[in-house]
Amino acid sequence: AFERITMLCKYTLRVLRPFVPCFMTRAASSTKLTSDSLTVVDNRDGKSYEIPIVQNTIHARQLSQIQGLRSYDPGYMNTASATSAITNTDGEKGLLTYRGYPIKELAEKSNFLEVSYLLLYGELPDETQLEYFTERIRKHTGVHEDITKLIDCFRHDAHPMGMLVSALGAMSNLYPEANPSLVGQDVYADKQVRNQQIHRLIGTLPALSAQISRRRQGRPYVGPSHQKLSYAENFLYMLDRNSNPDYRPHPVLARALDISFILHADHEMNCSTSAMRHLASSGVDVYSATSASTAALYGPRHGGANEAVIHMLEEIGSIENIPSFMERVKRKEVRLMGFGHRVYRHYDPRAKIIHDCAKEVFDVVGKEPLVELAVALEKHALSDPYFVERKLYPNVDFYSGLMYRAMGFPMSFYPVLFVIPRVVGWLSHWNEYLDDPENNIVRPRQRYVGSPPRPFVSMDQRKTSSSAEIRSVESSESKRRYVAPVPP
Ligand code: CMC
Repeated sequence: AFERITMLCKYTLRVLRPFVPCFMTRAASSTKLTSDSLTVVDNRDGKSYEIPIVQNTIHARQLSQIQGLRSYDPGYMNTASATSAITNTDGEKGLLTYRGYPIKELAEKSNFLEVSYLLLYGELPDETQLEYFTERIRKHTGVHEDITKLIDCFRHDAHPMGMLVSALGAMSNLYPEANPSLVGQDVYADKQVRNQQIHRLIGTLPALSAQISRRRQGRPYVGPSHQKLSYAENFLYMLDRNSNPDYRPHPVLARALDISFILHADHEMNCSTSAMRHLASSGVDVYSATSASTAALYGPRHGGANEAVIHMLEEIGSIENIPSFMERVKRKEVRLMGFGHRVYRHYDPRAKIIHDCAKEVFDVVGKEPLVELAVALEKHALSDPYFVERKLYPNVDFYSGLMYRAMGFPMSFYPVLFVIPRVVGWLSHWNEYLDDPENNIVRPRQRYVGSPPRPFVSMDQRKTSSSAEIRSVESSESKRRYVAPVPP
């Protein structure tokens, strides 16, 4: 009880702090200013304010006391949108940790389900906990019959991500008892209800993704293995098994995929994770929120970079063409895909791990012909002052696409291989968000630059103007159809 009261007091203080001027006044009236604060002078009226600095951030709401001042930050370039204890990145040092554990150690010593547990619940599991968690995921490894029917409705050449986004959205209809829109907002206050959705999503994802892949290939669907396989192994089993129920994927390939899943499981407030938190703030069910985050990841600026690396390498074609391509990069005509990162100003710690994984995969399935070109390109970039000065290093996507390609995945499937593990990150943030005392609905403000209020103009009073802006593309087929004479 004492712990709870202390926690409650701490949370109350954290929530109230930005609103209570006494924090500011007290600090300002003391003779010695606290070093953990920022003194701001508003030159419009000469008033001075002292704003507390907490974890190297100031609370944006503190600014509102300064004549309603707001911070403007499109793209959240320098905005912390939440307090989180899950993943930390240190761009300068090239560090990435999950719950404090360096990614390198996790990739070497752990496995995807154990890392998932760590991300979701904060600590590494003991044996009983891991067994229970693994069993819950295993029990949910399957696809609901209604979703199978939905997948069947898609064209054979539908994009896997389009299918995945739709299937996850459709799942929101299947569990009305856990849908806040239907049974009330506080349904997720019950952690067991939350866990059921978490375990179901993690369990369903590989089965659903395998089904999507087999739908495109025209092969019958395969359920999970009767053998106790690892998460990645079971996924490969559902993708590849033909007639032999005892089929077992190659251990090196399964381990490489497992490591890739570990590397992609979370990356703090990236676009799709922020989307998850954004959606969660509306109180929508977790399946709709996961579908929306999947859609965010589908965008070429987020989950599509490894595919773009392959396209780029194909375009360069051979090692002799590297210098001329690099000149185009420097003239800013093209970007060197798989290089640079918003956070890392150093080698992306995931890049080295995936590079080593890829090498092991090549030893089993043969070298991807573009690898030599990629290695030469990396060497060239790392010795070129343009890249050195801008601190541009390979990121995780530089080699992951090559590894997936060598493993026989089509390019359109690469983002699916990103979604499967990233769902764990999204769900960890969803969980954390639900417990956060500051979890207001996300509702940013804007800088309005439109018209001031004006009276409505009736049709006969309106000026004629160009319609160029509202024209849309019309296909030749559509033109053919509509040039037909209108029947009398
Ligand atoms: N190729 C060439 N120049 C680059 C690149 C690049 N890949 N990335 C950055 N630059 C230049 C940029 O033009 C700018 O130059 P200048 O100072 O002369 O204007 C300078 O480096 C600083 O870049 P920035 O605009 O501050 O970088 P950013 O933080 O806005 O962009 C990025 C980060 C990832 C969008 C960008 O590096 C990029 O487009 N990379 C290629 C795409 C890619 O590989 N994306 C995957 C990222 S990892 C995914 C994940 O973590 O999940």
